[in-house]
Amino acid sequence: MIAQRKDDHVRLAAEQQQQHGGHNEFDLVSFVHHALAGLDRTEVSSAVAFADLTWPVPLYINAMTGGSERTGRINRDLGIAARETGVPIASGSMSAYFKDPDCAGTFSVLREENPDGFVLANVNANASVEQARRAVDLLRADALQIHVNTVQETVMPEGDRSFAAWVPRIEKIAAGAGVPVIVKEVGFGLSRESVRLLAELGVRAADLGGRGGTDFARIENGRRELGDYAYLTGWGQSTAACLLDAQDAPIPVLASGGVRNPLDVARALALGASGVGASGTFLRTLLDEGVTALVARLTTWLDQLAAIQTVLGARTPADLTRCDLLIRGGLRDFCADRGIDTRPFARRSNLRGVRPEMTGNSR
Ligand code: FNR
Repeated sequence: MIAQRKDDHVRLAAEQQQQHGGHNEFDLVSFVHHALAGLDRTEVSSAVAFADLTWPVPLYINAMTGGSERTGRINRDLGIAARETGVPIASGSMSAYFKDPDCAGTFSVLREENPDGFVLANVNANASVEQARRAVDLLRADALQIHVNTVQETVMPEGDRSFAAWVPRIEKIAAGAGVPVIVKEVGFGLSRESVRLLAELGVRAADLGGRGGTDFARIENGRRELGDYAYLTGWGQSTAACLLDAQDAPIPVLASGGVRNPLDVARALALGASGVGASGTFLRTLLDEGVTALVARLTTWLDQLAAIQTVLGARTPADLTRCDLLIRGGLRDFCADRGIDTRPFARRSNLRGVRPEMTGNSR
């Protein structure tokens, strides 16, 4: 049953990518162009540090799969792509492994192919501390993701209907996992209230996992006989909205959900993300064109992100938070209603001194 679900998710998510690829709220965020802000490419670096972790690049392959023969092959290829590019990678939910230890290899292959890379294990918020530790051990994981997905579970025909225990369980796992714990949404977004609560629970970073890409309300509705939850498609906050909402977050935030290209990565970093993840779009490349094409695509993304940093005058990914941003349309309305002033984003370089010689703000 679980193996079938994992195969369904891969098929329906890949179909959605085919139909998708269009507009999302990252399009409502643009950089103010400063013609003389450019650096030399050799001055630009890619490493990021947050929550006592250091990543060589600010991009990661977010949680997807494992638990069936087919998804084991996908994890093998994702592990190879991560190894070849240095991109951190998360496994899919490991509940299938807890139910059937025989499928361990469909997850551990991620680590076998990628012995020295940064690997995250992934469990649901019902996991016990002992299960969380088993997941981390199997992958020799450097960190643990806990996914929270009330909307997906609700639409999933065989999904959970009880969520009240998640908060105390997350707190227990955060204390007992033995590695840093990151909580992630799966495409409906974490509000700033949720991020604040996660910080109180001892979670080290929050992956905002917003709307705009893979939509699990739609995927699970496609698995329902009657398709009677179609109206929940599009639920939640976009990733760009979540980033704006979480400006004063007490823990580092990661961004994922609807990241389509290197400019979206730069936008998310500029809105304060410590790292940026994508799933569906990379899955689609792998399924359509194979692992060599995925390696080439990841390499291109990293190269073009560095090129964008060079144009914007951002020596490090974190320096992108000093670049001027314009926030328009529905995203601006969202900010107004949530009490977030968007105007300072358009004047940050003046205030924070990117290329002070350009602004007369030299120190
Ligand atoms: C996912 N995602 C996911 N997340 C998670 O925490 N555990 C999981 O097991 C899975 N499974 C899964 C399967 C497939 C096929 C896809 C495409 C995605 C969700 C994923 O990590 C991410 O949050 C969303 O897909 C949104 O990002 P994208 O796809 O818009 O980049």
